[in-house]
Parts: sequence; C-alpha cells; structure tokens
Amino acid sequence: MEKVVKISPSLLAADPNCLGSELKKVEDAGAQMIHLDIMDGHFVPNLSFGPDLIKGLRKNSGLIFDVHLMLSDPIDYIDAFANAGADIITFHVEANSDIKECIDKIHSHGIKAGLVIKPDTEATEYLKYINDIEMILIMSVYPGFGGQKFIPRVLPKASEIRAAAGPDFDIEIDGGITLENYKLALDAGVNVLVAGSSIYNAEDPAAVIKEMMA
Ligand code: DX5
Ligand code: ZN
Repeated sequence: MEKVVKISPSLLAADPNCLGSELKKVEDAGAQMIHLDIMDGHFVPNLSFGPDLIKGLRKNSGLIFDVHLMLSDPIDYIDAFANAGADIITFHVEANSDIKECIDKIHSHGIKAGLVIKPDTEATEYLKYINDIEMILIMSVYPGFGGQKFIPRVLPKASEIRAAAGPDFDIEIDGGITLENYKLALDAGVNVLVAGSSIYNAEDPAAVIKEMMA
C-alpha cells in the first residue's frame, strides 16, 4: 500500500491578522498537521513566536502540532512547548544541547521527538538515533525565513534515511516545497511535506493541499 502523504502547512506564511481561521482553513482542506517555526534570533537570524501563542491556538484546533525548534539551546524550552500543546517537537542536531537528553525530555511528556538537519549537515552520523525518535526533518532551505528557494541537493539524504529506517518512519522536508517540486521529495522517500508560502500565498490553499496529498 502507498504510504499516506502528510501535509504540515507552515504557520509562518499565514495571515497574522487571523491565525485561528488560517489554521481552520488548512484543517478543513485535509492537512493533518500544522508546522510551527520557533526562532530565537540566535540559532537563526529571525524571531517568530513562543509557547503562549501555541497554547492559544491549541484550544481550537485538532491538527497535529508539529513544533520546529530553531533554538541554540532547545533543552531549555522543551517543557514549555510540550506544555503548550505540541504533539511533535523537533530540534536541530547543530544546536548546543545534548541530543539524547532532548529526546528523553520530549518523550517524558508523552509526545513524539524528531531531529532536524540543515542543508549542509550529513544525515549519516545521526542514523544511530533512528530507534529513539519518531521523525527526521530535512531542511531544504537554510532555516530562518519562509519563501526561500528549494535546495534539491538535500534529497539523497531522504533516500539514505528511508533505507535505514524502513517504511513506517516519518521523514519530513521543510523549505521551498511547491507543486513543482514536491514529487521529487516524495520519490526520494519523504512522506511529510512542510509548505508555507506555496499553500498560504496560493489563491486556493485547499487545492494545493489536495494536490500534494493525491
Ligand atoms: C524556515 C522554516 C520553514 C518555513 C517554510 O526556517 O523552517 O518551515 O516556514 O516556508 P516555505 O514553505 O515558504 O519555504
Ligand atoms: Zn520549519
């Protein structure tokens, strides 16, 4: 059986005037997840939002909250985002915190844990964590901003992870995913697509989500 494609629209590209309805829009269109980008102005040169916003959005949404921590010290914020309602927390292997300690702390909340790798980081060294985590997120842009151009040379990492992790493991890709390139990612072994601008800037976001899922 074909693996179901999961769509995780990135809230970063949503209209900040009406975040609640922006969440509902993608949920009604069939997206299973919402991707929440957390930036500290340190690990990446930008700031986004914190746990209070997520706690507020949680009250009216049944989406899987997919929290992507772009923080220098993710260990310090895992409790806050888990308590705010995250279902999955991913953090960067390039950050300062101990990887195993972060995984254990995320799991102590009864939620899923994942590693994120930047475009220039090889996956090989991190395959040893596969049995300890539920997802790997491959960045297909340099983290920090939405609306950047997809970097295709990261795709072999998806094939490498898929071969090592088997068919049931979640492999997510994030950055510059559009209707023009999402199939390349799926063919490489990805099954979770993050898409910000290509969904929220589209005239018909629901149509984009449906096409990516089909
Ligand atoms: C970049 C973020 C992405 C971003 C994706 O640092 O991690 O999640 O919002 O946005 P698009 O799909 O517009 O590249
Ligand atoms: Zn992200």
